[in-house]
Amino acid sequence: MAKKEGYRSRAAYKLKQINTRFHIIRRGDVVVDLGAAPGGWTQVAAELAGNRGTVVGVDLQSISRIDGAVTIRGDIRSEETISAIRQVVGSADVVLSDAAPNLAGDWSYDHARSVDLAEHALACAQKILRPGGNFVVKVFHGDLFAGYLQSVKSLFRNVYSHSPMASRKASAEMYIVAKMFRGDKGATHARNAPDARNASRVPDVPPSLNSRRGDRGGRDGRNSRDNTD
Ligand SMILES: C[S@@+](CC[C@H](N)C(=O)[O-])C[C@H]1O[C@@H](n2cnc3c(N)ncnc32)[C@H](O)[C@@H]1O
Repeated sequence: MAKKEGYRSRAAYKLKQINTRFHIIRRGDVVVDLGAAPGGWTQVAAELAGNRGTVVGVDLQSISRIDGAVTIRGDIRSEETISAIRQVVGSADVVLSDAAPNLAGDWSYDHARSVDLAEHALACAQKILRPGGNFVVKVFHGDLFAGYLQSVKSLFRNVYSHSPMASRKASAEMYIVAKMFRGDKGATHARNAPDARNASRVPDVPPSLNSRRGDRGGRDGRNSRDNTD
C-alpha cells in the first residue's frame, strides 16, 4: 500500500498516525528527520510542513531526492553531521528519529544499540531544537528504556510512550513522543551522551547470537500500547 500511495516505506504510516494523535508537525515547521532512509518519514514531514516549511532528512545511506526536502548523508552520532544540519536549518521546531541499528538477532545487544542511537538523537535535539519544540524517537523496548524515558522527561514538558497501530503486532519498538522542549534549562543527561569520538559504548561486534536466544526479557516488560504521562 505504501508504494501505491507514493511513500517509500510502510514506516510513513507510523508517522502519520503519531502526528494525527499528538500534533507534532505543523505547517511552516522546520523538521529534522534522523535515520531517514529510504525517506518515508521525510515525505510525510514535507507534506505536513507544507511549502513554507523546511525538512531535512539525515541517514548513513544516501536518500534519493524528495520534493520539498533537503537530504544529508551522515552519521547522527557525529558532530560533523550536526554541524551540517545546523548549516541548513539553524534551529528546528521538530526533531524526529526513526534510526535503528542493523539487527544482530541478540535482543539485549540490539536493544542497547537502539538506546545508544536514541541517546544521540536526544543529544542532537538538545543542540538544535528551539524551546517549545517537539521530539519523536524510536526505541526498542528493554531494560534501558525506563532510564532513557526519564532523561527525555527531564528535557520536555509533556512526554508519552506510544506504539503506533502501524507497527507490526509482534514488534517491541516504541516511540517516545516529547512535546515542549524546555530549552537549556533541562537536565544535563542527554548533553553528556557520547559524541562520535567515544560513541562505541555499545560494542560494534555483536555477542554470540546463541548467548541470548529466547531471552527477550525486554518484550515481557513492555508497556501497554499507549501510555500517556
Ligand atoms: C527503520 S529505517 C528508517 C525508515 C524511515 N523512517 C522511513 O520512513 O523511510 C532506520 C534507518 O536508520 C539509519 N541509521 C542507523 N544508524 C544511523 C546513524 N548512526 N546515523 C544515521 N542514520 C542511521 C539506517 O541507515 C536506516 O536507514
